[in-house]
Amino acid sequence: MFFSSFQNPDDFKRLRDVFEAARYTDAAILEALGVKDFPSIRGADVPLLLRRTNRGTPLDTFIRLFLIEVPCDLAAAEQAFRPMRLEKLIESGLIHVDGMLVKAAVKLLPFKGLLLAFDSPRMLQSDLRQNYVMGIGRSTLTLANLTVRKQAGMALDLGTGCGIQAFLAARHSSHVLAVDKNPRAVHMTTFNARLNGLSNIECLEGDLFGPVWGRMLDLVITNPPFVISPEMKYIYRDSGMAADQVCQKIVRQVPQFLNEGGYCHILCNWTEHAGHDWRERLQTWFKGTGCDVWVIRSETRDAAAYAFTWIQHTEKAEPEQFAQRFEKWMAYYDQQGITAMGAGLITMRRLAKDKNWYRADDAPEKMLGACGDYLVQGFELRDFLETIQDDSLLLDTRFQISPDVLLERRAKPTPEGWVDETVQLRLERGLAYSGNIDPFMANMIIKCDGQRQLKDLLFEMANALGVELAKITPTFCHVARGLIERGFLLPRDFTC
Ligand SMILES: C[S@@+](CC[C@H](N)C(=O)[O-])C[C@H]1O[C@@H](n2cnc3c(N)ncnc32)[C@H](O)[C@@H]1O
Repeated sequence: MFFSSFQNPDDFKRLRDVFEAARYTDAAILEALGVKDFPSIRGADVPLLLRRTNRGTPLDTFIRLFLIEVPCDLAAAEQAFRPMRLEKLIESGLIHVDGMLVKAAVKLLPFKGLLLAFDSPRMLQSDLRQNYVMGIGRSTLTLANLTVRKQAGMALDLGTGCGIQAFLAARHSSHVLAVDKNPRAVHMTTFNARLNGLSNIECLEGDLFGPVWGRMLDLVITNPPFVISPEMKYIYRDSGMAADQVCQKIVRQVPQFLNEGGYCHILCNWTEHAGHDWRERLQTWFKGTGCDVWVIRSETRDAAAYAFTWIQHTEKAEPEQFAQRFEKWMAYYDQQGITAMGAGLITMRRLAKDKNWYRADDAPEKMLGACGDYLVQGFELRDFLETIQDDSLLLDTRFQISPDVLLERRAKPTPEGWVDETVQLRLERGLAYSGNIDPFMANMIIKCDGQRQLKDLLFEMANALGVELAKITPTFCHVARGLIERGFLLPRDFTC
């Protein structure tokens, strides 16, 4: 079993101290390698990285072993891990020795103040690939950035992998349940929790909600094996269920575990079918869940591009099988009438009321930094809009402009003076929506100072345009609702 030789909590502390003494942190690694971020390392040449880690310091040794994944000599490893003995680390499954060389058996990387062990992608090419435990992927970061970080009692990370989402949730939750069907992932999460000195994590092995039956939760975070394919080859990727059933199953089951007001985030891939609106199909999933729902779509890919990308991820080493596998995936899609896959984040909030709302739209072009607070703001603004469905109520309301708004004008000189060609509105933080806006609407927004009712601004606009009030009111209200929903305009006393 992974790390079975680490019986004593002091073993974990000693290992942590070894990495701390070596300054094995995100910032120190980037500085040593002379790169600005971790994705840039991927593209860098190994010879260049080796040159930059040739001083023989413990930091260099750890970067070579656990990041670049090249062997180092026995003496360098002994020196880097001192005072720990290499035997202990070999027994734990962290490293192994091959003659006079030491190799890493897992990746071990710092991330946001944590130190995390997970499997090397090289394992995907080995016989052990089925139980591969993924590390910090693009989907991991997306989910982490979008998670609501409100103080929670009990949280659940469903499909925890190396435990990353659970550990981030542990910073704002009293207790976190970290569940995975893969026993190797449960061992790794347990190891990582102890290595990071986290005592509020409970690691559980099992299928979906099976291990948490009867527990009530304030937050559920899940990056499930959502890939849509006919395969069951890797537990981190394939659920073994048809099409997008795994995400549907989570949606249907989660409400019974959520406390009132509790949030659930599901990173999701769903099927799309020619001639059918994806929003309508997804809406049927949430019927009777007792949850308000916001689906943020990040992209839709046609089925062939989707299959190609996913097969390429893992099958690079087997080019002759690529075409065969690709045909199998495409036949599966054709059989089910699947023409494209949508991807995005589903957020559900349990709230008992007569009629829950459903919102589904595209993600902004940019999501800047941690967006959890902006998600909560989105839920609250939508709640507010539900209270002013009648246009007369909307028009009676006073709005202020969000402090995160940036307005950019491109104007041209004409004989009548400068005329706006385009006006662009942008949010500069969080869910950074942007888009062009009608110059008259832009003028209206500028005047939203929290003092004047929207109907006064509508009146001024109708005068400026020389049109009847009734003619522009429906469009005006529609655009205003969109601006409120996306957080450009906030009700006067709004605090989030
Ligand atoms: C895409 S990985 C996500 C890992 C990690 N949470 C992250 O965000 O990077 C999906 C995880 O779900 C686990 N898993 C797969 N099927 C499961 C099931 N039926 N029940 C619980 N976990 C499952 C896999 O073992 C894997 O660790």
